[in-house]
Amino acid sequence: MYVCICNAVTEDDVNGCMASGCRTAREVKAACGFKPGCGTCTRRIHTMVSEYRTASELADALTGGPAGLAAVPEQGPGRGPEQIIAESEEGGAAPTAA
Ligand code: FES
Repeated sequence: MYVCICNAVTEDDVNGCMASGCRTAREVKAACGFKPGCGTCTRRIHTMVSEYRTASELADALTGGPAGLAAVPEQGPGRGPEQIIAESEEGGAAPTAA
């Protein structure tokens, strides 16, 4: 869905900017290449940024901070999601049978 008709910017574009590190509406507008328009979208962008920041801060509070990236264990025969999760919680993936 379009957030800004004047600049043809979609919700996915805005979410992508925020996922890439934009934390303010000004940063989102700069990253999405906004040019001056009617301004109708400004409130919507502020709301999206505010909701994203709130959700991000809540997730960090619940998890103890931003989650680091980790390699996804290779899924071999007989390994289901439960086993992969258990292995990752133990600190690493168990060797897989090739
Ligand atoms: S809708 Fe975004 S500037 Fe017009």
